[in-house]
Amino acid sequence: MARRNVVVMPGDGIGQVVLPEALRVLEVAGFEANWIPADIGWEFWIHEGNPLPQRTIDLISEHKVALFGAITSKPKDAAAKELLPELRDRGLVYYSPIVGLRQRFDLDVSIRPCITFPGNPLNFIRRAADGGVDEPGVKSVIFRQNTEGLYGGVEWTDPPDQVWRALDTHPRFASFRDVPREDLAVSTRIFTRGKCRRICEEAFAYAARHGYSSVTICEKPNVIRETSGMMLDEGRKVQTRYPDIQLWDTNIDAQMMWLTKNPEDYGVIVAGNMFGDIISDGFAGLVGGLGFAASANIGAEVGVFEPTHGSAPKYADLDPSIVNPIAMVLSAVMMLDWIGETDLAGRVRDAVAAVVADGSVRCYDMLKLRGGPDAIAQGAATTSQMTDAIIAKL
Ligand code: NAI
Ligand code: MG
Repeated sequence: MARRNVVVMPGDGIGQVVLPEALRVLEVAGFEANWIPADIGWEFWIHEGNPLPQRTIDLISEHKVALFGAITSKPKDAAAKELLPELRDRGLVYYSPIVGLRQRFDLDVSIRPCITFPGNPLNFIRRAADGGVDEPGVKSVIFRQNTEGLYGGVEWTDPPDQVWRALDTHPRFASFRDVPREDLAVSTRIFTRGKCRRICEEAFAYAARHGYSSVTICEKPNVIRETSGMMLDEGRKVQTRYPDIQLWDTNIDAQMMWLTKNPEDYGVIVAGNMFGDIISDGFAGLVGGLGFAASANIGAEVGVFEPTHGSAPKYADLDPSIVNPIAMVLSAVMMLDWIGETDLAGRVRDAVAAVVADGSVRCYDMLKLRGGPDAIAQGAATTSQMTDAIIAKL
């Protein structure tokens, strides 16, 4: 196996804790890589006025594959106050570096697998027909459009004249025409056909590769006709090339109800940016929550892999650390899959599954304990004990 170059960006808070743990697992699994450290996050905002320095962008452009831990974001004004004195008053504005990365490299496909590990005490359960308890196995993989829609950033309060006039050409704008301009806020939801097609194509290809029998387009085309309608249209077109995979469509609101009722019925799910964010958090809650939620951000050339969780500042300085490294490890597994190291990926995933099934090593979240230094005395594994347990299964 050729040695791979992988850019590693621990970032802030617990990103600094969990990312090195994932590297430890990959190394023991036999993945041969040069880890190329890159700067991202709060420290670089404070000292350089830029949380995503150009040198980091250059490294990712060169090597194409990156692991990312987490960053800390703060509101605009709070961020400006923390800048070094000599950087203040230069009009620097904080912008989330992970959102910046997604845009800079056009990482338009976000993949979030929400798959039950048997034996996880955090698994979703429900009342069975006979009064007992059911624990359905969830196997959903959410494909979220990652760059457009409501998170595209095209928005105004008190929209400029041309915008207001353009809106006024729409018959339905009549009911807003008399609202004082400064009381009018507009966030656009722009979908483009190419991006809708790409997320649907990636989703169907994944479904075919992994033996899923359905792809669900989760939008709301009966109400949001133009954008949700475009996603559904593209899904239908792509489906014609996959006669063995059914296309289902659900509305986001109903889907949120069904995921607490019959989550096991859903396979691959496609949604726009906002609905994909919602639905992936919803499904993640059924399979262990933030300690288990892994994700991939995939562009045409670059892949960045990260746990869904943030920097969890309240646990960042606990020594020993208690946070669960599994979400980060599973994100690294997604990286292995993406670069074609599928055997290795399978081995690491199986090792995680074996630790969860075994049940003797559990982080505080899996024991449903309050996080904090006391968790260890109450039986919680430390972060590195969890990593050690995964390594032992390897
Ligand atoms: P968070 O995900 O950092 O933490 C929320 C809570 O979830 C934690 O307090 C902890 O109870 C639990 N948790 C998170 N990761 C865990 C793990 N690995 N094991 C066990 N429990 C875990 O979200 P929060 O508190 O809303 O945000 C903290 C900071 O992180 C903010 O500055 C926020 O902007 C940033 N953030 C960054 C993200 C990223 O880097 N992609 C994503 C979400 C938030
Ligand atoms: Mg979210």
